[in-house]
Amino acid sequence: MTTVPPPLPYRVAGTSAETADTRSIELVPAGRALPPFAPGQFAMIYAFGVGEVPVSASALRGRHGGLVHTVRAVGAVSAALCRLRPGDNVGLSGPYGTGWDLEAAVGHDVLIVAGGIGLAPLRPVVHAVLDRQAAYGPLAVLVGARTPADLVYRDEIASWSGRVRVEVTVDRPAPGWRGAVGVVTALLDRLDLRPDRTCALVCGPEVMMRHTARALVSRGVVPQRVQVSLERTMHCATGHCGHCQLGPLLLCRDGPVVGYDRVAHLLLVREL
Ligand SMILES: Cc1cc2nc3c(=O)[nH]c(=O)nc-3n(C[C@H](O)[C@H](O)[C@H](O)COP(=O)(O)OP(=O)(O)OC[C@H]3O[C@@H](n4cnc5c(N)ncnc54)[C@H](O)[C@@H]3O)c2cc1C
Ligand code: FES
Repeated sequence: MTTVPPPLPYRVAGTSAETADTRSIELVPAGRALPPFAPGQFAMIYAFGVGEVPVSASALRGRHGGLVHTVRAVGAVSAALCRLRPGDNVGLSGPYGTGWDLEAAVGHDVLIVAGGIGLAPLRPVVHAVLDRQAAYGPLAVLVGARTPADLVYRDEIASWSGRVRVEVTVDRPAPGWRGAVGVVTALLDRLDLRPDRTCALVCGPEVMMRHTARALVSRGVVPQRVQVSLERTMHCATGHCGHCQLGPLLLCRDGPVVGYDRVAHLLLVREL
């Protein structure tokens, strides 16, 4: 039998509501700490008595110095995580998987394209690029959400403007919405994209990543410089059980972040 390595006890230091069904949770070690996470890596979070799920790091250093995860309540475990309050305990293991290859982006224009909660694993990239802005070309962040109410990190996104080119679109506007309406790929037309100098990092629903990656490649960005973060059901998170297989890849080990050049043909198949 293959299991996730035993989790370490972590305490909830703070929580904040992002949307009606999504919360950010900051976790600090209750004893020994896990090794540091890199942007794009994920943890297995164990909600005691309920179960364990993979969740990306959405900030590597929160207000209390802890690791932040942003969780959308879609089922039993994620809903239990969203009910956590400061002082509660969880089990945490990780870091798992590949992170975003930020070294490949050094010297390039950095384009982030996020759909919905796909912005969570990309938020540490924004932080990292802003921390070392001289090493990179211009940073642009394109965000798509179902409705304005589904937009995560709304205040933080507003705080990026000036240093980051930010464009937001929604599928369905609400009264008072003055931004763009439509799919996130349409926002590409607003950019002065320099395909030969661009490194793109994409995360969101798989269909959105497929369309975005194709649109970027058709504009001349080389597939090797388009990174996508893929999700599959995960059990062991250590490359042993095979649950996260996508073609020849085990996404807990070879992913979740992979070059589009390695998976373009696999993303044509809905689910393997
Ligand atoms: C590498 C990785 C990173 C992730 N990062 C985050 C994150 O930062 N924030 C976050 O909220 N979620 C993230 N997820 C998804 C999260 O793991 C699932 O939402 C969670 O496992 C659902 O478990 P559950 O018991 O709450 O619901 P379940 O009862 O297991 O599922 C409820 C519904 O969600 C769907 N679902 C389950 N797992 C996934 C999945 N992996 N992707 C898409 N749909 C799924 C099911 O098909 C079902 O319809 C990530 C998943 C992976 C593989
Ligand atoms: S989750 Fe077990 S091999 Fe990836």
